[in-house]
Amino acid sequence: MKVKKAVIPAAGFGTRFLPATKSTPKEMLTIVDKPAIHYNVEELIEAGIEDILIIIGRNKEDIANYFDRSPELELFLKENGKEELLELTERISNMANIHYVRQKDAKGLGHAVHCAKTFVGDEPFALLLGDDLVYATTPCIKQLADMYETYESTIIGVQNVDKSQVNKYGIIDGLKVGENLYEVKDLVEKPSIEEAPSNIAIMGRYILTPDIFHMIEETPPGKNGEIQLTDALRRLNQQKEIYAYLFDGKRYDTGDKLGYLIATVEYALRNEELSEDFRSYLKKLL
Ligand code: UTP
Repeated sequence: MKVKKAVIPAAGFGTRFLPATKSTPKEMLTIVDKPAIHYNVEELIEAGIEDILIIIGRNKEDIANYFDRSPELELFLKENGKEELLELTERISNMANIHYVRQKDAKGLGHAVHCAKTFVGDEPFALLLGDDLVYATTPCIKQLADMYETYESTIIGVQNVDKSQVNKYGIIDGLKVGENLYEVKDLVEKPSIEEAPSNIAIMGRYILTPDIFHMIEETPPGKNGEIQLTDALRRLNQQKEIYAYLFDGKRYDTGDKLGYLIATVEYALRNEELSEDFRSYLKKLL
């Protein structure tokens, strides 16, 4: 079965990026000239997925406004002959079928995912964290969706991280069953360095099946009193096979200040209009 729907949870508080995130959703922080969430919607479109549910919360209306039409701006651009900018603005509001649902309380990623139950119905779906970007030749979600078509089972996108960083991620204990593919034996959310079963980290990209909703319903609050998606996946793994796929691409955590700066510099260096001048500026600076 093909993956045709996607969910982007974007209702977290973004405490690592305060004070900016006091009023600006972290998913709306700009990487060069587009908000982070725009790149994620582009990734989905390139993967052939156009039905997208964004989980928002209070203070997150900017996200819905961004993907909506801007009649006054469009009129201004039209009257002033700025055709290229008009086309760019209109294109954003026609990018995909974007739906919204509010997570009334930020009770964790698992709780946010559960808000997508009605939208998802009985199909597999892609899950992308709104502040995680992946730069890849083949869109990361497409790599995972291709795996799903073969295995018809939950697929978690993973990458190897430095052992000293394992306490920042969900970590899997896996058995290698193919090129870049692991059968998941266990998963643990942000383990201590000593307790981590490996350095294979969950990186904000998943293909999930509707089984996850029932598992979330049965999952009590875990770390930080939040309903953790990793805990629900752990439960699911006791009943069904789950796979982890080492995807190809560079992942950026734009919800973290350093991660955001790294993403900004690297995306700017890849940007045709800016790269030459920016590179020579950086060379002089350093
Ligand atoms: P994070 O772990 O990055 O949490 O959430 P956060 O609260 O947004 O940010 P920090 O750690 O306080 O800085 C991972 C993803 O899950 C979403 C976030 O918006 C982000 O995309 N999320 C998290 C929700 O949608 N709801 C929640 O209750 C928690």
